[in-house]
Amino acid sequence: MSQSTHVAYDTLIPNNVGLSSDRKVLKALERWHPKFLDWWTQMGPDGFQEFPVYLRTAISVEREGWAQFGYVKMPDYRWGILLAPAIEGRTIGFGAHKGEPVWQEVPGEYRSMLRRLIVIQGDTEPASVEQQRFLGNTAPSLYDMRNTFQVNVEEARHLWAMVYLLQKYFGRDGREEAQELLRRKSGDGDAPRLLGAFNEQTPDWLSFFMFTFFTDRDGKMQLESLAQSGFDPLARTTRFMLTEEAHHMFVGQSGVARVLQKTCDLMRANRIEDPHEAERIRGLGVIDLPLIQRKLNFHFSVSLDLFGSELSTNAANFFNSGLKGRYRESEIDDDHRLVDDLYPVSKIVEGRIDTVEAPALPALNMRLRDDYVRECARGVERWNRVIEKAGVDFRLTLPHVAFNRAIGEFASINAAPDGQLLEDPAWLAQRDHFLPTADDGTYLQSLMQPVREAGKYASWIAPPARPIDNQPEDFEYVQIPS
Ligand SMILES: [Fe+2]
Ligand SMILES: [Fe+2]
Repeated sequence: MSQSTHVAYDTLIPNNVGLSSDRKVLKALERWHPKFLDWWTQMGPDGFQEFPVYLRTAISVEREGWAQFGYVKMPDYRWGILLAPAIEGRTIGFGAHKGEPVWQEVPGEYRSMLRRLIVIQGDTEPASVEQQRFLGNTAPSLYDMRNTFQVNVEEARHLWAMVYLLQKYFGRDGREEAQELLRRKSGDGDAPRLLGAFNEQTPDWLSFFMFTFFTDRDGKMQLESLAQSGFDPLARTTRFMLTEEAHHMFVGQSGVARVLQKTCDLMRANRIEDPHEAERIRGLGVIDLPLIQRKLNFHFSVSLDLFGSELSTNAANFFNSGLKGRYRESEIDDDHRLVDDLYPVSKIVEGRIDTVEAPALPALNMRLRDDYVRECARGVERWNRVIEKAGVDFRLTLPHVAFNRAIGEFASINAAPDGQLLEDPAWLAQRDHFLPTADDGTYLQSLMQPVREAGKYASWIAPPARPIDNQPEDFEYVQIPS
């Protein structure tokens, strides 16, 4: 390859990892890139690939560089490889190697564990793009359509971030894993994505908002833990990914809030006091609050499964070896080794749910899940303030962690959202109160009519509090020729 294409290729991929002087990785990426583009055009957003979208692109990790706004056609998006700045003299913050200098190369004894962690994180990124690929067709506004595409291109950039680590640090098996990340497909019978929640469908926009609130937030918790890693390139990569993840969480938090706002406003305007009058409320073209609660129950419970079993030797090993810390490890005030510590874990004891003290190291999944639940609860309270302010008598709640679980301690039992254990017949009789029904799905589908006029919104959702990047309210976020 000539020197000039080499340089052009380097500038095509915004990066701060010195790609132009790293021939081996550059070559591996050059081979991977066309396969990535094939994947993006086949499995990325359906139907809008040739239209200019108003997107932010990260071209550097500096303040001015990481969110540059402008129109771009999605396949031309400049997916970059960006690591947060190195911290000089950084040492490993936890586990058996606490206090030793961080690793710049993969420690041989932990090689396969580290690769596994990177592959699992990497697999979720393209999976969510696949799950969301049809949403553009039914977007409730150009604003919302643009936000989904923004989330999609950034998840694809996160895939690039993980693929870079695999190709740079894991040689041949890294390159093979990079191929596999493009081969597995969300929901595929033969080659599904690695984690359950990433094989579920995202059939409507309420699901999308719930997904970005609950499932992207699991991603955030995992990234926060990996940002503590003793393997410095992983820590720096994930630290930068977190700046983008904040927007995904915003899309979920504000998306559901706008749905609640619209429902409550129309209930009030039409003097409907009882939130359970589903038929009248649906007659107004908005989504009734109990349906929103059922959706919340579903997305919260499948997202909890992503944290794995309450007690896990893998979790203990990841921590002990210095590869994956706790949520904001550096802010915790303890010995950061946890060898003799205990942690309260929920378990079924004599037919009811109880809390028992377990060794802290294998309980690290449980601990991260607890941090997650606390954050979710804060977000749900913000939603409740929207309902309360509108003067409607209803509260959303997080279901009990034992509800509707497929992994861990509660996989074998049925629990109601309030945590009460149920025998099979009682569960089956009440299931439709707890989880979305076929009828809910049909109603939601009937609402999914696209709105493509700039500044206009579908019947079931309020406009956002403010536009993106200070643009006017009727800004054309996606330029679709009429
Ligand atoms: Fe991501
Ligand atoms: Fe995300």
